Amino acid sequence: MANDSAIQGNRQPGLHVAIIMDGNGRWAARQGLPRVAGHRVGVLTARRIVEHADEIGIRCLTLYAFSSDNWRRPAAEVTRVFWLLRAFLRMETARLRERGVRFEAIGRRDRIPEAALRTMERTEEVTAGGSGLHLRVAIDYSSRDAIARAACEAAALSDEALFRPDMLRSMVTQALAGDCGEVDLLIRTGGEKRLSDFLLWECAYAELAFTERMWPEFDEADLDAAIAEFRHRERRFGGVPEPPMKQVSEPAGQPVSA
Ligand code: IPE
Ligand code: IPE
Ligand code: MG
Repeated sequence: MANDSAIQGNRQPGLHVAIIMDGNGRWAARQGLPRVAGHRVGVLTARRIVEHADEIGIRCLTLYAFSSDNWRRPAAEVTRVFWLLRAFLRMETARLRERGVRFEAIGRRDRIPEAALRTMERTEEVTAGGSGLHLRVAIDYSSRDAIARAACEAAALSDEALFRPDMLRSMVTQALAGDCGEVDLLIRTGGEKRLSDFLLWECAYAELAFTERMWPEFDEADLDAAIAEFRHRERRFGGVPEPPMKQVSEPAGQPVSA
């Protein structure tokens, strides 16, 4: 764990970091363990990374925990993932509240096992007043689904939005990004270089960081390193680089007369 002075010198106010927590199964296989052992250690990583993100003052952290396509996995693995999610929230809720972390689940809620859903909603209620880190966990999440739903809601709210792409666009952005805003830095562990239907709209100008580290072995120093690299990137948002400050000096030789 980083010490206090290192944390003081490493504050990241305003940043929205999103993480695709990938590689649990491969990590477990490499240790000769079943895939679910990777998910169990992955939960411990998530716990440490949330604490660290809070300590260094990240404003919003969005973690990809379970995609809508992950329902394709064997039932026993899915059951275990939700069991672990519930155990994590039960274990952590008081601590999150103490730290002022606000927990929010994003994604569909109508297919989540009842006990896990109840726990998620309880954590949301208990931490709703938190003014520190905004922790969003994507569960039964599909970005394309979220975009389609946000567009339908916008159209239902305003007939005008149906004919005004600019208006629809800002309503969809508001619905998806909310007070977290768009993503500044997206990290994917596990070596794959794809988005797997995560935050497609909100990552329009995100800086992307892919690491070979598997999620169970990702640590605080890896997060710090990804942020340090992000700080060296030049974000242009479609513009041109800032020109360097010009040195104003007298031209050599005689002034040209008219
Ligand atoms: C990510 O790790 C966790 C979930 C999708 C729940 P994986 O389970 O996808 O691990 P790999 O990619 O198979 O190693
Ligand atoms: C993305 O990982 C989902 C999560 C990390 C929760 P996957 O392992 O499901 O993604 P693909 O199938 O390799 O694209
Ligand atoms: Mg994977």
